[in-house]
Amino acid sequence: MDILEKFYNMDVISAKQFKRSDVEDLIELSLKIEKNKEKFTNALHGKVMAALFFEPSTRTRLSFESAMLRLGGSVTGFSEAGTSSVKKGETLADTIRTVANYADVIVIRHSKEGAAKLAQQFSDIPIINAGNGSQEHPTQGLLDVLAIHDLKGTVDNLNVGLIGDLKYGRTVHSVAHLFSNFKSNLYFISPEQLKMQYRVKDSLTLKNTNFVETSNFREILPKLDVIYMTRIQKERFADLEEYAKVKDMFILTEDDLKIIKEDAIILHPLPRVNEIDPVIDSDPRAKYFEQTYYGMMMRKAILASVLLKDPLESLK
Ligand code: NCD
Repeated sequence: MDILEKFYNMDVISAKQFKRSDVEDLIELSLKIEKNKEKFTNALHGKVMAALFFEPSTRTRLSFESAMLRLGGSVTGFSEAGTSSVKKGETLADTIRTVANYADVIVIRHSKEGAAKLAQQFSDIPIINAGNGSQEHPTQGLLDVLAIHDLKGTVDNLNVGLIGDLKYGRTVHSVAHLFSNFKSNLYFISPEQLKMQYRVKDSLTLKNTNFVETSNFREILPKLDVIYMTRIQKERFADLEEYAKVKDMFILTEDDLKIIKEDAIILHPLPRVNEIDPVIDSDPRAKYFEQTYYGMMMRKAILASVLLKDPLESLK
């Protein structure tokens, strides 16, 4: 593998910044670190990650923290803005300027779409976007591609269905951008009101990536190699009556197991509400809990390559 110096000090703001070779390098690095994990236990010794979570999180924050700790680094931060000086009226810019003096990398999740970019402007240390409103969640997209690569053996020539809230769901935006680098077929399956955002579709069109949009969930299901379910993003709806109309439209049920491919994989960024019947959890095609492990793997690779000139130094 090439020296990954290209990622050193990089901000991770959008999945759009990664081309095919970048995604492949990060997958390879994730797998390499995983294979040699005992050699990497001190790789980030002396480095500090600040996790600033202005919105709720379980997997993203804990997998970033766990990745950092398992690589020998340290973590600081907050998981509730209410415990920080934001509560006293501090601006995001001032918070970032301050934290940039304490840490080597900042991981930020915020409800405002412009938050990660704004943080980038006020920080001289790398910023990693862990979710900016309904726009993007690039590291989730990268871990999803890693999971698909590892479980299916390829990221090309697959029928990938992104299902559910494609309007407000930020993970599907990042997944779609990343897949525009590969030769798979994308199916955007959503209620009419929650169709994939135009800015994502426009960007795919510019890259000549084909996609099919439909609300006919069960017609497409038998074709899919990757069934990527998502939660309807209740917190983004201005009108809860609108939410009530769509919340139960796409639910993967036990009966669906009979119509989906034998070797399909079922993913979900989690948390799930009721999109996947829990009886499906014991089906071998259900991979959403394994998917969370890929999160830690990919975040180790991202942290190591942002914080180290040679992320593979531990292997030497
Ligand atoms: C997602 C998120 O926060 O965007 N969760 C995650 O990071 N794994 C998905 C969601 O909240 O529905």
